[in-house]
Amino acid sequence: CGIIGYVGRRDALDVLVGGLNQLEYRGYDSAGVALANGGDEAAGRDADGAASADVDVVKRAGELSALEAALEERTPAGTTGIGHTRWSTHGPPTDANAHPHTDEDGSVAVVHNGIIENYDRLKDELIAEGHRFESDTDTEVVPHLIERELEAGSPPEAAVRRAVEQLSGSYAIAAVVADTDAVYAARNDSPLVLGIGDDGYYLGSDVPAFLEHTDRVVYLDDGEFVRLTPDGWTVTSPDGEPLDKPIETVDWDLEDTGKSGYDHYMLKEINEQPHALRQCLSGRVDELDGRVELEELDDLIEDPPEAVQFVACGTSYHAALYGARRFRDRGIPAQAFVASEYATEVPPTGDRLVIGVTQSGETADTLSALREARNRGVETLAVTNVVGSTAARECDHALYIRAGPEIGVAATKTFSSQLVALNLLVEGVANGPRSGVRPRSDGVRGRLAALRELPGQVQQVLDESNAAEVARTYLDSSGYFFIGRGYNYPVALEGALKFKEITYEHAEGFPAGELKHGTLALVTADTPVIAVVTGDDEIARKTVGNVKEVEARDAPVIAVTDGRSDVERYADEVLEIPKAHSVTMPLLANAQLQLVAYHVANELGRSIDKPRNLAKSVTVE
Ligand code: G6P
Repeated sequence: CGIIGYVGRRDALDVLVGGLNQLEYRGYDSAGVALANGGDEAAGRDADGAASADVDVVKRAGELSALEAALEERTPAGTTGIGHTRWSTHGPPTDANAHPHTDEDGSVAVVHNGIIENYDRLKDELIAEGHRFESDTDTEVVPHLIERELEAGSPPEAAVRRAVEQLSGSYAIAAVVADTDAVYAARNDSPLVLGIGDDGYYLGSDVPAFLEHTDRVVYLDDGEFVRLTPDGWTVTSPDGEPLDKPIETVDWDLEDTGKSGYDHYMLKEINEQPHALRQCLSGRVDELDGRVELEELDDLIEDPPEAVQFVACGTSYHAALYGARRFRDRGIPAQAFVASEYATEVPPTGDRLVIGVTQSGETADTLSALREARNRGVETLAVTNVVGSTAARECDHALYIRAGPEIGVAATKTFSSQLVALNLLVEGVANGPRSGVRPRSDGVRGRLAALRELPGQVQQVLDESNAAEVARTYLDSSGYFFIGRGYNYPVALEGALKFKEITYEHAEGFPAGELKHGTLALVTADTPVIAVVTGDDEIARKTVGNVKEVEARDAPVIAVTDGRSDVERYADEVLEIPKAHSVTMPLLANAQLQLVAYHVANELGRSIDKPRNLAKSVTVE
């Protein structure tokens, strides 16, 4: 999602809408603005603490153009305001769920990015006190909390601060209070930056929000609280101490702002993976107790299926292959089908769940396979990134991967987030009531701890990768083979798919043991073999044998490994990953393969974000 705020001498609405245009790349399923000081009613609050005027809110589901059309009809005035463009995480994209959210009498408006983990409890508490809610969002608790503090007599700044103190989770929040020339903001684990202009002060979830007005910025850190007024700005620490924050000058062009300084969306999205994975895990893992909490799937977990089938296409199919194996590992029969083939065969009946893995939730082949399953009376689940997508609406259940918007056609952060979400799903279903006692086994706890560690390990791979050099060494090869076994097999397939999608070079992924059954005929000194060999088990040892087979045919070997000396001995190049759990290691290997594909494509000058012939979401069968 994107946040913009302004206070100063200008007409705030122009600034807000301009900012939202710059931020639309962060999410585009609804947008809104709130102006705090345009009303002509008397300022201040009456004796009961009730507001004497409203903030003026206009918000609409749909692209920004829908909001702009609404603003033609009714144009709020004022010099203090906030705006938001939304990427849904709680509740479908509707007018009611769009930000800003207000309290009951409309005197407080709030925009928010992130996930408020304790919103359920706060909402129950507020409802018990008589507050009425209008949306399905976690955000709406915030204006109500502020309202409660105002009614108790707190001045606006203290009220916002006290409300924020009650939140746990990740957030960047901006708030305005009716007839108050101030924007208040706070951040925790979600970016927020101030802009210092000649004619006012700006707030953005990212610099592009206000870069056309000023290049002087103050980056906020977690726990900090901000107040902007026409006369100045203050940043305070969590315990209220004023902080002396440096003003920095950014040297960006507006041109590359949507990409936050990266040359391509794809590279930006690869680098967003640690954050995306944290979002996916946020509030869903109780490591100590060895449990996952997937409240949206409570019904399913109460009555888990005997067996599951996956349907998916492209990258999502590779996630499905991984997911099916995870289910089988936990003793639940599972198979992954290419969605377009699923519709051509009648799978055996039984107490099954059909899971559609689809980033967009709109892929026609996947929707059609899911409909096929539903027609046969089978329960369905969508694992998707898009709240309110067709798959999410049509399936009996939906699990959101929370990766945030992905613009690059080649899926990167959404693949990683799918794998993490599928791990949560497996642990939820396998440890559900049907398994009798809830196992708090070391195995479950170990896997959940591994998921928790994963974002940091992905960051380490991204920081230390030598993929760019490796890519330059093997630019002019006649073909590329990617091999892996076990959990690394879907990663080999995904590595090859990513590579061919954006480099236009010929690449194939194989189960490592299968290469010798035919394709080895194509292996020469001009076909690098990218081998994913991780862990220290029989699977890894056998893969090393396959590496020797290609090395004996003079093929250059690029090994993705967690420090296995035997494979490093045969490898011409090594892409190192940290040691990790066997279920998370494939994600680390995948990050290296994404970077290899990216850098080869970049060296070759390909159209990385929009490869030829491809579309992000294919809505025909
Ligand atoms: C298209 C895209 C692929 C994607 C596939 C499935 O073919 O080009 O990158 O993996 O659709 O998309 P979905 O949205 O269903 O995950």
